[in-house]
Amino acid sequence: MYPLIRKALFAIDAEQAHRFSIQALKLLRHLPNCRKLPDNPVNVMGLTFKNPIGLAAGADKNGEAIDGFAQLGFGFIEVGTVTPVAQDGNPRPRQFRLPEAEGIINRNGFNNLGVDVLVENVKKAKYNGVLGINIGKNATTPIENSLDDYLICLRKVYSYASYITVNISSPNTKNLRSLQYGEALDDLLQALKAEQQALSQKNGAYKPLVLKIAPDLNNDEIASVADSLVRHKIDGVIAGNTTLSRESVAGLPNAEQQGGLSGKPLCQLSTQVIHQLSQELQGKLPIIGSGGIHSVASGQEKIDVGANLLQLYSAMVYQGPKLIEQLVRNIQLKD
Ligand SMILES: Cc1cc2nc3c(=O)[nH]c(=O)nc-3n(C[C@H](O)[C@H](O)[C@H](O)COP(=O)(O)O)c2cc1C
Repeated sequence: MYPLIRKALFAIDAEQAHRFSIQALKLLRHLPNCRKLPDNPVNVMGLTFKNPIGLAAGADKNGEAIDGFAQLGFGFIEVGTVTPVAQDGNPRPRQFRLPEAEGIINRNGFNNLGVDVLVENVKKAKYNGVLGINIGKNATTPIENSLDDYLICLRKVYSYASYITVNISSPNTKNLRSLQYGEALDDLLQALKAEQQALSQKNGAYKPLVLKIAPDLNNDEIASVADSLVRHKIDGVIAGNTTLSRESVAGLPNAEQQGGLSGKPLCQLSTQVIHQLSQELQGKLPIIGSGGIHSVASGQEKIDVGANLLQLYSAMVYQGPKLIEQLVRNIQLKD
């Protein structure tokens, strides 16, 4: 069935196709038990995940279709990236398929309706599984004031999220990735950790903080990020976001579009980063592996090198929801 749907979706612009899919998923929420999959519960960061396969951020930026995505069988869902106020993002077209490689390049630039709309949507959803809310900064906020935006979002989403992801790794917001280094990272993590503790006291509930990093960090940079994560007692890390590298798609149509590359051509790089990160962290905090998962084998490899949970987005565009079922049924977690 999905090959037919895919043919229709691939005949239109990638972002339009995505919009259409979100509308379809909003309808899907009315159908009971679309995909009844066996539970394969896993405890990570003090949360119980129904299974270790999650929806990566960016597919449901405004939390509009949470119940529809839940119907596809995901063990957890991450919505966002959301910013303090609504913003349009970059001019269109800004999303491109690379079908020969099963990749996607996007330079969306955090197009979203703002944190208040996302919170209203989350409140309306019936989904009661693990929900991550991914937060970012507005494009107009100077990079030196980024903390203000993260704090605004953290405070607003805190009581509605199971965990909160701090996204400092989108390549499509100017200078955002500079927050991944040295003092800038330390200052950000220290302030967010203090706010998490204050919110935890105020709300009587501890919500894990997760950092999402880029796959374009070198080994020294990964070691330095790992050290900061441990020192600031951050609860988890997502490795990682889209890549600026084009090595795996050189010469293909659309390969030179600006933006972040995701999907199959990102898979190997992302697995290498997870491996390196896992060696640095030595199990001190969990890793959510994301980047090009397109088969059971590619997901299993990420678990085998140290990921505790998985997330995907792009492969759903190419393969449809069947892949989620295959992953849920076949991924073996480490003891
Ligand atoms: C169109 C598109 C939009 C995305 N938007 C976001 C976003 O808003 N925030 C974020 O943290 N990651 C975003 N991502 C990155 C994904 O969450 C994921 O980390 C990355 O695509 C690698 O996984 P994949 O290869 O399975 O897609 C986006 C990815 C795509 C393809």
